[in-house]
Amino acid sequence: MTLSLPSRAAASIVKPLSPRLLTLRDGNAEMRWEAMAGQGFAVPTDRFFVRNHTRSPLLDVGTWRLRLFGTGLRGSPTLDEAVEFDYGDLRAMPAEETAAVLECAGNGRRFFASQQAHPAPGVPWGLGAVGVARWRGVRLSTVLRHAGLTDDAVDVQPEGLDPDFVTGGENLGRVRRPIPIAKALDDVLLAYEMNGETLPVDHGFPVRVVVPGWIGISSIKWVGPIEVSATPLSSPWNTRFYRMFGPDHPVDGRLVTTPVVKSAFELPWDVRVPSGEQVLIAGRSWSGNGPIRRVDISTDDGASWRPADLDPDDEGGVWQRWTTLWRPPRPGRWTLRARATDVTGAGQPDQARPNALGYLFDGVVRHPVTVY
Ligand code: MTE
Repeated sequence: MTLSLPSRAAASIVKPLSPRLLTLRDGNAEMRWEAMAGQGFAVPTDRFFVRNHTRSPLLDVGTWRLRLFGTGLRGSPTLDEAVEFDYGDLRAMPAEETAAVLECAGNGRRFFASQQAHPAPGVPWGLGAVGVARWRGVRLSTVLRHAGLTDDAVDVQPEGLDPDFVTGGENLGRVRRPIPIAKALDDVLLAYEMNGETLPVDHGFPVRVVVPGWIGISSIKWVGPIEVSATPLSSPWNTRFYRMFGPDHPVDGRLVTTPVVKSAFELPWDVRVPSGEQVLIAGRSWSGNGPIRRVDISTDDGASWRPADLDPDDEGGVWQRWTTLWRPPRPGRWTLRARATDVTGAGQPDQARPNALGYLFDGVVRHPVTVY
């Protein structure tokens, strides 16, 4: 039975929110990691996390237009003079499909508080503000060239058609964030399908941006206008939010672009397992720097570590499934830890570096288990 929860989230999110698959957090929905047990490489759409600054808009695909404008296009069209593409135009262009991770920069934020006594404001995500989907669409570079891109363009800023974001009484306008032209011309997709189906409303219907390897805020949903500029662009989403502020960082903060290394067990939080029986424990690790090279597991609160078995199907992929066997020796409270290292040698410290807004938690998470 699928239960839909009547709550703030229900007003903001359109898809059914089964409590077996998703946890509600401040109007957003976090994937439950145990809902990935036995699943394939991609996260099914019914359990894919949703992060909305306001709410999912219901857009009419018949009247929807992608509108490109700005000083980086031939003739410097204004928004009123924008070069327009409709849904059919995009569908008629060469299509591409890519498996990409989407991860909120604040994923794991609650562990700054629970493990490091350093709480940060923002959605108190566990580890489930992440997912891999197969995204299909047209390359942004193809559309930019059709729109008359010039050699002078330096930044591209897609804007969502969801309501303006208002915080502390201040209207910051529509969700938007610049992408440097080199990345925009590289592997960025304007996606209209997710996991082989029409892009769902909550994930950006009719079209969203997908910026592979960059934090989730770059991947603007419900995209409408796209500014292409010959001078650098900025928005509150790259100057005020999604920056690392605090004693370890520059005074004006450090831009957050690349997700860090993380690992999660496909187990309920506080799972109960019988003592003396061998159990197969599964999980996944991922990094914005590139593929995962090794994963180590501790079942004794960090005293000893052993390598996990990596699923060879995922070698070189955007995330890595792994398993390990464990025979809990006796009843009691136990803590599981998983620690991954990626191809660049980046790993997971015991303590993540705190920052004012609680981004990029890369610390080893202590997963509690009760053995009975
Ligand atoms: N795009 C728009 N227009 N509005 C939003 O609120 N949220 C961003 C990004 N794109 C957002 C957006 C953030 S913070 C994240 S993490 C991802 O979308 C989440 O994508 P999802 O809801 O499809 O998982």
